[in-house]
Amino acid sequence: MKISGICGSLRKESWNKLLLQILLEKLSKYKDISTQELDVSGFPLYNADIESVGLPETVILAKEKIIESDLLVFSSPAYNGSYSGVMKNIVDWLSRPPTVLDNKNALVIGCTPGMSGTLLGFTHLNHVLFNLNLNVFNQPRILVSGVNNKIQSDGKIINETLEKLINDSAKSIIEKLNIQY
Ligand SMILES: Cc1cc2nc3c(=O)[nH]c(=O)nc-3n(C[C@H](O)[C@H](O)[C@H](O)COP(=O)(O)O)c2cc1C
Repeated sequence: MKISGICGSLRKESWNKLLLQILLEKLSKYKDISTQELDVSGFPLYNADIESVGLPETVILAKEKIIESDLLVFSSPAYNGSYSGVMKNIVDWLSRPPTVLDNKNALVIGCTPGMSGTLLGFTHLNHVLFNLNLNVFNQPRILVSGVNNKIQSDGKIINETLEKLINDSAKSIIEKLNIQY
């Protein structure tokens, strides 16, 4: 099975990218699981004039990788009590025909150095994905506050509770996928 990650931050040292990479790495240790991070850095701002000439190559490539994916993990920062505009732009492009998101499994994760966490963004993005008919996982919830005190910039987790949450979450994601197949 293939699991693809999509990050809603374009920042080189993004915490959400790091969190996504940590989870993908854990998942890739399971039997018959391969993981990949989709390159969405070149997606232009959505513009119907661009689309009318043809989907950008970067969008086509991402859509091809989504077709072969059994689960999409969306990792988004908290922006103003929601998820990031970058992530909305990614989802908007991916939602355009030909359809690739319909019935796809999806899990939203996120982290912030702030103390309020990313629950609002999780809820908002889940709502959008649900509307696009993705099979949105309500659990597990990897929504991390104070991330700068829990993960080192080299990706090492320095918080036992978070380490356990990620390990348990990876296990439950694989169990969910295996039940389906
Ligand atoms: C426009 C904007 C709005 C933000 N709003 C919130 C917020 O509502 N809650 C929060 O915890 N952090 C907020 N932040 C802080 C970001 O979540 C934080 O910088 C985070 O590290 C960004 O994600 P990244 O590290 O993956 O790039 C905001 C940052 C920006 C730029």
